[in-house]
Amino acid sequence: MKMFYLILIISFIGSNLAQTPGFGSCPSVKTVSSFDPSKYVGLWYENRRSIPNFFELGGKCVTANYSANNDRTIKVVNRKISWLTGTESVIVGSAYADSLQCGNDTGCSKLIVEFPIPIVGNVQGTYWILDTDYTSYSVVWSCTDFLFHHLKYLWLLTREPKPIQSVLDKADAIMEQYGIADTPTMATNQDDCP
Ligand SMILES: *[C@@H]1O[C@H](CO)[C@@H](O)[C@H](O)[C@H]1NC(C)=O
Ligand SMILES: *[C@@H]1O[C@H](CO)[C@@H](O)[C@H](O)[C@H]1NC(C)=O
Repeated sequence: MKMFYLILIISFIGSNLAQTPGFGSCPSVKTVSSFDPSKYVGLWYENRRSIPNFFELGGKCVTANYSANNDRTIKVVNRKISWLTGTESVIVGSAYADSLQCGNDTGCSKLIVEFPIPIVGNVQGTYWILDTDYTSYSVVWSCTDFLFHHLKYLWLLTREPKPIQSVLDKADAIMEQYGIADTPTMATNQDDCP
């Protein structure tokens, strides 16, 4: 219950975490091996995200900018523009390898993303990189078992705001291969962005 509540809060404050409920437990998925954070840093555009996501309605021009912190964690800067008001919101957090999932695997791509939220404290979500070529796409997955269901989110991040079709085809093929292509998603509007 607590986790569910936290996920809702994360969504509410605009970190782009979107949950789709599903039956049974989380599907088992492989993630990218020998993950290299130094190649992953930089700006990513949200191309597509899972729905429903009530709190994200009205978000466009969604980006994530990753960079190295001094302590070997990754700085996360998420931005979006509200449809309704046209105002930009920014949230800054950090990401690091999930030691429970990763053990001593230094190339582990099962991360935790954490955002400090006033009053609430730090809230966390998992961030698993299913596949990325670092230069055009990243397929990001998060799934949490919740009672007899699971809550999942899926993101397609791209290096270009309007990636060429072959990049999108590649991402579709990956989602198919991982058995998560049935996750309902919605394209993120990247038109007329600052
Ligand atoms: C991304 O973050 C880095 C490090 O903080 C910064 O130098 C760069 O300007 C940022 N890029 C954008 C597009 O915000
Ligand atoms: C990592 O842990 C495994 C067992 O969990 C062990 O076999 C392996 O030697 C360890 N590798 C390093 C570099 O510590």
